[in-house]
Amino acid sequence: MMILIRNIRGLVQAEDIPKDRVCGKDMSVLNLITDAYLLIDSGFIKDFGAMKDLPSKMGLISEKEIREIDARGKYVFPSFCDPHTHIVYAGSRESEFTDKIRGLSYEEIARRGGGILNSAKLLHETSDNELFIQSMKRIHEIIFMGTGAVEIKSGYGLNSEDEIKMLRVIKRIRESSPIEVRSTFLGAHAVPDEYKGRRNEYIDVIINEMIPVVASEQLADFIDVFCDTGFFTVEETEQILMAGLKYGLIPKIHGNELDFSGGVQTGVKYGALSVDHLEHSGSEEIKALKGTGTMPTLLPGSAFFLGLPDPPARKMIDAGLGIALASDYNPGSSPSGNMKLVMSLGCIRLKMLPEEAINAVTVNSAYAMGISETHGSIARGKVANVFITKEMPSYEFFPYAYGSNLVETVILKGKIINGETNP
Ligand code: NIG
Ligand code: FE
Repeated sequence: MMILIRNIRGLVQAEDIPKDRVCGKDMSVLNLITDAYLLIDSGFIKDFGAMKDLPSKMGLISEKEIREIDARGKYVFPSFCDPHTHIVYAGSRESEFTDKIRGLSYEEIARRGGGILNSAKLLHETSDNELFIQSMKRIHEIIFMGTGAVEIKSGYGLNSEDEIKMLRVIKRIRESSPIEVRSTFLGAHAVPDEYKGRRNEYIDVIINEMIPVVASEQLADFIDVFCDTGFFTVEETEQILMAGLKYGLIPKIHGNELDFSGGVQTGVKYGALSVDHLEHSGSEEIKALKGTGTMPTLLPGSAFFLGLPDPPARKMIDAGLGIALASDYNPGSSPSGNMKLVMSLGCIRLKMLPEEAINAVTVNSAYAMGISETHGSIARGKVANVFITKEMPSYEFFPYAYGSNLVETVILKGKIINGETNP
């Protein structure tokens, strides 16, 4: 089927020559076509341009069924790519939310058996099918908030059986939803209680039991380690990343969230596609990232929710780095997958310009999950994942109106998704 969107007030992030990512000063450049059209054919972007040029392009429209949409007063964005989530989890942890309000820190809650270990217990008690149903509700939620691609991590299993259960649920989501999914094995999210005092044995299980199964069943694209104070050391992280690399799993890192942990440098050393969180980073970390293929991925939702210091986004961009933003959707540190809000937090808390924030949730976040060839912008031949906004006066209005739902129509893989069609 073809879809022709006409009279678009602003077509955001439309590129004739697609870029794999944008860095430094280029992050403040945003391609925008005003009074535009967008033509979609069989799931892909066929063409776009100014309305005045549309008559000369009508030859592109074949005899096939065509659906026309008038987007007068509205903007069209490429769908968000969310390159860091833990959206597959069981239950919720609002009791810890209250503990935090009463003054307990994230680490204290974790030490008392809350945190990640609490989610691991809940996940263990939940059947595969129930886990899938709960996770799909969140997938539907983020689709209607404008997300078209999502990376999902394991890491609430923490034993072979439950880690594999999580990864199989991720695979099922990948096969049954129009959202683009990438999968990450995060067995090294926390050391389970039963391995207290014997953490090396848990690392052995990750390396010798979990990774071989994950690889043989092709359950993950990436491998991630929580390289931070109280979780995994640099040496342990290196061991685990090397074991994953042997099986072709590309490294990612959770790091520098709770301290200057060395996570950034370790990620860079092992060619990580992204290093994520980075609330504790300074000039050493920035220097380590310069000139590499590793994308710093900031999670302003979790810094906001936990009251952590904000990562130095401005310094990173001014030093010439690119930045991606992600939601970190998870039950402990960021129970929200709202990428529009993440953009607003990027602007408000991290002092990113609206153009920088848009690049950080589209082209750069597509890069951080290894899909910028096919997603993350509006370019001929890319997958037709876009959304049409409600009427807005400008594109800056989108992050500015931080509490408003401005996503009106969602198109994924060239199909209009609505409430009745079950995404
Ligand atoms: O990205 N930092 C580590 N892991 C998750 C939190 C997981 C949890 O608290 O359940 C994060 O913030
Ligand atoms: Fe995370």
